[in-house]
Amino acid sequence: MTEHAGGKFRGALTQALSASAAPSAQVGMPLERFQAWRASPLSISQKDHDRICMGGFVDVQKADGVTASAKCPMCEFQRSQQDFVRKLRTAGVGERYLNVEWDDLDLSEPIFQRIRKACGNIDRIVREGRSLILWGKPGLGKTQMSVLIGKAALRAGYSVHLVNLGRVACMVRDYESAELSEAQAVAMMASADLLLLEDLGAGESDKLKVERRLLYLALEERMNNNRPTIITTNCTVPELTDVYGARIMHRLQPCQMLEVNHKTNFRLRVVDELW
Ligand SMILES: Nc1ncnc2c1ncn2[C@@H]1O[C@H](COP(=O)(O)OP(=O)(O)O)[C@@H](O)[C@H]1O
Ligand SMILES: [Mg+2]
Ligand SMILES: [Zn+2]
Repeated sequence: MTEHAGGKFRGALTQALSASAAPSAQVGMPLERFQAWRASPLSISQKDHDRICMGGFVDVQKADGVTASAKCPMCEFQRSQQDFVRKLRTAGVGERYLNVEWDDLDLSEPIFQRIRKACGNIDRIVREGRSLILWGKPGLGKTQMSVLIGKAALRAGYSVHLVNLGRVACMVRDYESAELSEAQAVAMMASADLLLLEDLGAGESDKLKVERRLLYLALEERMNNNRPTIITTNCTVPELTDVYGARIMHRLQPCQMLEVNHKTNFRLRVVDELW
């Protein structure tokens, strides 16, 4: 429980007010109830919250008659959720993937269970630089899984960056209006504890030279620092090797390749007709 100047003042004020009105009246929330609430911040209704929360603080009964002010569990929780979403956006995660968690997904295909379980080992995965290539047709959930791996890493305190190499190559290629220098692009891809490389092999062929250079330099630095990369791609691994060359692919070691080959294209799910 955090006591602070304003809270102490408010606690004392509430006490004084209640003392004058009804000396035996309970002031503030009983400590056990507060502790239960803190363990489960969404366990009370928004309406109850609005009644007892004063600008992010609530009064809690500590011992007989002593009321202290504590940070409101619900406001704290909502703030940490907002911070997390902000971090994900900054990391480059698109809106459609932001708020999805494992429990929101259809997990009937074994690959989802497998990756979810592996997320429990995220510390080891990041520390040991264990890269992964998720390959397969579009719409099967590769990006969604990659983002969920990224979320696990973020929650464990690691930095995460999601990058579409083709897009980065576009940004650096045009020197006249370059939004990003090559050095900046490499640094951005090399520095994150976990890099999510999206849709590798889907870039424009005229930017391939730039892609190769950026990828080589970034992966070289990542490998030397044991930093893992999660790749999603519609290409097979031999196709990726054809496009980028073995020298680059070898810089993903240690790396596992998992084919995502179930039959459900989640992009083609039926929705109610709006057109
Ligand atoms: N297991 C799943 N259950 C329900 N929806 C899913 C599942 N996997 C992915 N989706 C959703 O389907 C859409 C396409 O998934 P995505 O990861 O972009 O596919 P891919 O990267 O393989 O092309 C996304 O909106 C995603 O949230
Ligand atoms: Mg994808
Ligand atoms: Zn509150």
